Amino acid sequence: MPQTFSPLQMDIFKLFIICFFLLSSTTAATISTCRTTVCHRYDPVIRFPFRIINRTLQPKSCGYPGFNVTCDTVNQTILELPNSGKFKLQAIDYSKQEIWINDPKNCLPRRILSLHLSGSPFSAVYNQKYTFFNCSLSYLLYRLNPIACMSGSNYTVFASSSQRVVNFLSSSSSCKVLAAVEVPVEWPFYEQIASSDLSDNLRLSWGEPKCAKCEKRNGRCGFRSNSTFEIGCSYSSQEGIPRSAHYAVIVGAGVPAMLCLLGLSCVLCGKLKFVNSNPTLPEFNPSIAPQPTTFVTGLDALTIDSYPKIVLGESRRLPKPDDNTCPICLSEYKPRETLKTMPHCLHCFHAECIDEWLTLNASCPICRISPQRLPPPPPPLSLPPPPPPLPSMTPPPSPPLPPPPPTM
Ligand SMILES: *[C@@H]1O[C@H](CO)[C@@H](O)[C@H](O)[C@H]1NC(C)=O
Ligand SMILES: *[C@@H]1O[C@H](CO)[C@@H](O)[C@H](O)[C@H]1NC(C)=O
Ligand SMILES: *[C@@H]1O[C@H](CO)[C@@H](O)[C@H](O)[C@H]1NC(C)=O
Ligand SMILES: *[C@@H]1O[C@H](CO)[C@@H](O)[C@H](O)[C@H]1NC(C)=O
Ligand SMILES: *[C@@H]1O[C@H](CO)[C@@H](O)[C@H](O)[C@H]1NC(C)=O
Ligand SMILES: *[C@@H]1O[C@H](CO)[C@@H](O)[C@H](O)[C@H]1NC(C)=O
Ligand SMILES: *[C@@H]1O[C@H](CO)[C@@H](O)[C@H](O)[C@H]1NC(C)=O
Repeated sequence: MPQTFSPLQMDIFKLFIICFFLLSSTTAATISTCRTTVCHRYDPVIRFPFRIINRTLQPKSCGYPGFNVTCDTVNQTILELPNSGKFKLQAIDYSKQEIWINDPKNCLPRRILSLHLSGSPFSAVYNQKYTFFNCSLSYLLYRLNPIACMSGSNYTVFASSSQRVVNFLSSSSSCKVLAAVEVPVEWPFYEQIASSDLSDNLRLSWGEPKCAKCEKRNGRCGFRSNSTFEIGCSYSSQEGIPRSAHYAVIVGAGVPAMLCLLGLSCVLCGKLKFVNSNPTLPEFNPSIAPQPTTFVTGLDALTIDSYPKIVLGESRRLPKPDDNTCPICLSEYKPRETLKTMPHCLHCFHAECIDEWLTLNASCPICRISPQRLPPPPPPLSLPPPPPPLPSMTPPPSPPLPPPPPTM
């Protein structure tokens, strides 16, 4: 029998094609997709709202105003704040809308003295007031932590947030107050700091554009069109879709797909009986049928992502200062590495190490306690509330207090 298609078969085939395109368009990106890039392998990944302006990869529509980033001659990622100059961008947490910055010339306290965040999209997450002093050399005796990069051969600069130390130094004739400034510190210190060299990254957050919700679902934020500042969210298939999005895809695409296929097969069944020709059905396209969810013993990405991350400063202050080695890879924590804390037992690990572990095994590698999974998100599309603020954010211990002021 010759391979010809009856008109009805052709119609069914067309219907099938239309079904396919309708369905694939329901999950397609609604915003233009931009490429992600980095200045250097170990530097933060740059994507919307940030944009590297002097590499051709990211056109203007890939960045939000105020989020211009450049790569300098030694491939450092540089963010220029309108009234404060250039800073090195150390880390970006897209899902919390936070950044960590430092001075590319390694004298952050000098930059802090002239820091004005007004005019930039960024603001402090935690502020702590520090008073800067310029003292004669004899003050090195008091075991205060000097700011080496601002001190000279016969004077020393200190910064303190402790009222006791501030009172003492201000009353001394060998010290001059340089300034009292709010510092956007990395950690909320509840205790006053006797003296700090203020070399730890500054931590800032931004309010607009609001991409946190989208990022938490592993989406990618971007402009909806070139002409407005309206923000949209797209879920790229390569990035791996979180479980919550799977529900949306299954409900959004799977149900119509099933109905479509059901209708088709009914028509085909009836037709096949009638025509009794070559009984091969058009092949099911696996991209239409909902994918079976694979069973994993580890935690889902949503739960893993919800665990608090910290980026270590130069002085490697840890939430738990006693363990300074990652128990998974057994290497010591280095400045600027990202750590993750298990919220229920406060054990710390390299973020990559624990992420990998948790996808395979849901328990803490040290104490073997299994954290609670987040409840599965109810379809359609409403996410569980984020976990409550975590007790792991307790401040690290402050440096030892200076000896009491000499009584003269
Ligand atoms: C960011 O860069 C674009 C050009 O790439 C420029 O038009 C815009 O003014 C810059 N924005 C800021 C705040 O520097
Ligand atoms: C990017 O621009 C900055 C200054 O705007 C410049 O110092 C740097 O060399 C440029 N980098 C590249 C890769 O063009
Ligand atoms: C900077 O990056 C470019 C490519 O991204 C590379 O060719 C160049 O060697 C890097 N320069 C330095 C100083 O690392
Ligand atoms: C500190 O004071 C000395 C003179 O006592 C002066 O030379 C130096 O520039 C001052 N340093 C700062 C940072 O103001
Ligand atoms: C600091 O030391 C230099 C010599 O090293 C001296 O000439 C200068 O007068 C000193 N300044 C003060 C304020 O003591
Ligand atoms: C938006 O701008 C990009 C280039 O910046 C252009 O390629 C694209 O066609 C524009 N899209 C619209 C809808 O105007
Ligand atoms: C997870 O790791 C713990 C040890 O930390 C082990 O006792 C448990 O059997 C592991 N579970 C799975 C599912 O591999």
